[in-house]
Amino acid sequence: MLIGVLTGGGDCPGLNAVIRGVAGRAVRAYGDEVIGFFDGWKGVLEKRFLALDMGNTYGISRESGTMIGTSRTNPAAREGGIGIALSNLSELGVGALVAIGGDDTLGVASKVANAGALVVGVPKTIDNDLAATEVTFGFYSAVQSATDAIDSLRNSSRSHNRVIVCEVMGRNAGWIALEAGIAGAVPEIMIPEVPFDLAGLCSRLEKRHKAGEQSAIQREALVVVVAEGASCAEYKRLDDGSLDEFGHPKLSGIGHWLANEIEARTGIESRASVLGHIQRGTPPIAYDRVLATRLGMKAVDVIHDGRSHRMVALRDGRIEDVDLADALAAPKLADTAMLDDYLRTFR
Ligand code: F6P
Repeated sequence: MLIGVLTGGGDCPGLNAVIRGVAGRAVRAYGDEVIGFFDGWKGVLEKRFLALDMGNTYGISRESGTMIGTSRTNPAAREGGIGIALSNLSELGVGALVAIGGDDTLGVASKVANAGALVVGVPKTIDNDLAATEVTFGFYSAVQSATDAIDSLRNSSRSHNRVIVCEVMGRNAGWIALEAGIAGAVPEIMIPEVPFDLAGLCSRLEKRHKAGEQSAIQREALVVVVAEGASCAEYKRLDDGSLDEFGHPKLSGIGHWLANEIEARTGIESRASVLGHIQRGTPPIAYDRVLATRLGMKAVDVIHDGRSHRMVALRDGRIEDVDLADALAAPKLADTAMLDDYLRTFR
């Protein structure tokens, strides 16, 4: 069989490990041929691809990014796009497609599967907001990267008795802020799921800043972790309002806004640090390489079982497959009970 594979949406640590898992299983276990479409669904629409084998996927699981490129191209937003994707797959003789992506890429995968192709999805996003899987690969690498940055910012914040606002990714789901905030021992964590109270934040920071004025040795770090999609009543977004092909705004702005606002309201010197794509391009940690490899191998098994419109998923430590619709039904938002429980003790 000829199996096609694509990576869509934002890049994510572990994508290459999935690609290696797919190519390895397909070639070694089933004698398949594999092609990787360039730049997500764009490569399917334009019939641009590369043959993948054991040779050119050797060693790639250690590397971040995606060797076949990615994009936020949405065939469903183009006239006849799904039909073109389907006929291109059939012209190329692709018997099955592995679509590695988040809700957008998998939403298109679902449409292409409904139109008649054999498609299996692999859940990917550093945001960890896909349902039906316990975790998405790449998430813990992003959390590690954000935690390392927070550790550095704590050192700088303590030295100067300054506030440093650390903006992390997370448009609608605050998983990275939540887990990196806890890992970084930060008591101020702002996530999109819970609008925050600016006045309350400022008064807590004022208290801690005052306590830190007496002794540099006993001073606490004044780091605030904020997800890019977090908001409070006073916040007006700073981005230009432009949308990508899936209708998502390009965020980033709250970190700088919040640092300015804290400084204006409290007089405490404040800075912002926006981690941005550093979280996406960080090398995959071992956990994500293992998970990604297992997901890639399983996707090929599901194909050979003849099951379409499926997504491979981590469930109770096992790699299983679920209906794509289960994953797409609703986003998996951050666990606000976990946040409350942590803040009850440490704020
Ligand atoms: O892939 C998800 C994500 O990392 C979000 O957390 C973030 O808002 C978005 O991608 C940024 O996308 P882009 O790289 O297209 O600006």
